[in-house]
Amino acid sequence: MKVEFAAFPKAFAGNVAVFVAADKQLLATAQGIDRSTGGAITRALGAGRFTGAKGQTLTLLGQSGDLARLLLLGVGKPRELDARAAEGLGGVVAAEANAAGHKAVTVVVDPIKGSRLSPGQLAAHIALGAQLRTYRFDKYKTKDKPEQKLSLEQLTVVVAGPAEARRAYAALEPVIESVFFTRDLVSEPANVLYPVEFARRARQQLTRLGVKVEILGEAEMKKLGMNVLLAVGQGSERESQLLIMSWMNGPKSQKPVALVGKGVCFDTGGISLKPAGGMEDMKWDMAGAGAVTGAMRLLAARKARANVVGICALVENMPDGNAQRPGDVWTSLSGQTVEVINTDAEGRLILCDAMWHVQNKFKPQAMVELSTLTGAMVVALGQERAGVFSNNTPLSNRLRAAGSQTGEKLWRMPLGPKYDKLIDSDIADMKNVSSGRWGGSITAAQFLQRFVQDGVAWAHLDIAGMAWSDKGNETTPKGATAFGVRLLDRWIADSYG
Ligand code: BES
Ligand code: MN
Ligand code: ZN
Repeated sequence: MKVEFAAFPKAFAGNVAVFVAADKQLLATAQGIDRSTGGAITRALGAGRFTGAKGQTLTLLGQSGDLARLLLLGVGKPRELDARAAEGLGGVVAAEANAAGHKAVTVVVDPIKGSRLSPGQLAAHIALGAQLRTYRFDKYKTKDKPEQKLSLEQLTVVVAGPAEARRAYAALEPVIESVFFTRDLVSEPANVLYPVEFARRARQQLTRLGVKVEILGEAEMKKLGMNVLLAVGQGSERESQLLIMSWMNGPKSQKPVALVGKGVCFDTGGISLKPAGGMEDMKWDMAGAGAVTGAMRLLAARKARANVVGICALVENMPDGNAQRPGDVWTSLSGQTVEVINTDAEGRLILCDAMWHVQNKFKPQAMVELSTLTGAMVVALGQERAGVFSNNTPLSNRLRAAGSQTGEKLWRMPLGPKYDKLIDSDIADMKNVSSGRWGGSITAAQFLQRFVQDGVAWAHLDIAGMAWSDKGNETTPKGATAFGVRLLDRWIADSYG
């Protein structure tokens, strides 16, 4: 979809969306159209429940010659109209236009008294939201009829000062490209996107933006001593990979931050095999790695003044004659030994070696790890927030703030010695699942915390409930969300540059 910013025209034509603030407050353009149509909007407002509350819409057809369709868009209370809300409005406009089968739509951004956003920022975020909403993963659809395809080709945002809007939008375009890159990775089926292919796409996309990409195969990981990571992949025909991406564009003296992603390209559970129902969802068990890779792409595309290294543990968790067994004991890269009780608790196994490696090699000041780690996280927080577990309150606060600003919301979860004790093993240093049933997300986080080196500020984001959306929302069609890409970028922008 093409986006254009334009100054106010003399008259509006085609499909036009205008704002109505809470309590039926018509903004300037709506007022003008109301007058020129002999009160058509006022009459429509009197006839139904539309009040201008956030997200409400009302369509008026054929009101005047050139104005084919007028969409009244509720923006709610002006002072609550922030960047996120603007993105939601853009998403609603795009969805309505596609549902109606329109090729072009014009959104009118009237100045809104009380909004904290400048008209240019408002216009840019509306366009961003419209773009994010129009993502489709339809490369395998060969028989879609024209009416099943997206119709909207052109979005025109009318705003006083289109130049400012254009500049603001240009700064947001890398967000769109990077979110789409991640959504593509997460959406791909596992027969197409396996560890080697994930790493290949990352290298292809990121090196041309100036990111240094290094890929380790099984032999190299074996030499390093990453036995726990390799154990997860040993039941698969597909080779495990460690993808290391570095973007060192900050001050030389600044220690880097590390981003770590769980990249289980398919999780059958291994010998602790998952039930058949819903197992296809486990193609997106690499969404943590997808988010880290997309965030690295975004940092490079916007030339962030920061030192960041992204590391993704890429494996396939399969049961075969060579697969690891429940009861197996491995020595991790850290030297600590791990007893594998359940081969389906594989995320923590690959992450522990990846985390240790990135800390050894890059001496990061902070390490933020993202993973679709536990079903228990979805039970606890649903599909509204990801859990954040951290040994550092300022870090977790900054991540939470970045989350609320980008709409990728977090909720802090507890850690503590009583939980930690639950993963002590009788024959090794630890086991990969706890003795009891309860607190599964917390004991998983405790496992990871045992691989955090002294002095490193660490946070683990369990995104199991957020990586995939069954129903979608204003700015995300159903499917892969790319949760984490914008959050990580905002956190780094606010904390480092
Ligand atoms: N990838 C799953 C967690 C998951 C479940 C992510 C549902 C997204 C949606 C993870 O590897 C897993 O299987 N976890 C187990 C852990 C258990 C064996 C301790 C779980 O949550 O059941
Ligand atoms: Mn699993
Ligand atoms: Zn998994």
